[in-house]
Amino acid sequence: PTLKVTNLAGEERLVEAESGRTVMEIIRDNGFADLQALCGGCCSCATCHVYVDEAFADRLQPISDDESDLLDSSANRTAQSRLSCQLVFSQALDGLRVRIAEAG
Ligand code: FES
Repeated sequence: PTLKVTNLAGEERLVEAESGRTVMEIIRDNGFADLQALCGGCCSCATCHVYVDEAFADRLQPISDDESDLLDSSANRTAQSRLSCQLVFSQALDGLRVRIAEAG
């Protein structure tokens, strides 16, 4: 399975993705410096903000109140916004496309 990641410069790269890992871990482990993920996945920093391709929206885990509250602290929240540490990758998400969001 693969994940397609777009960085802040708009460069897109296809990476191998493992089920059971979070999208944040997969992005970070593939060397994308644009994704800070400062809290390490504790859902408390919002620096793992990504925009998820809407074609996959109904296959994602639902957004929790904590995640939604944290996303509200970002000026760049859109309907496609998710915290990538809260998305566990699975076979059903093969081919998922995410774009790293600007901090702020
Ligand atoms: Fe901090 Fe996701 S890594 S909220």
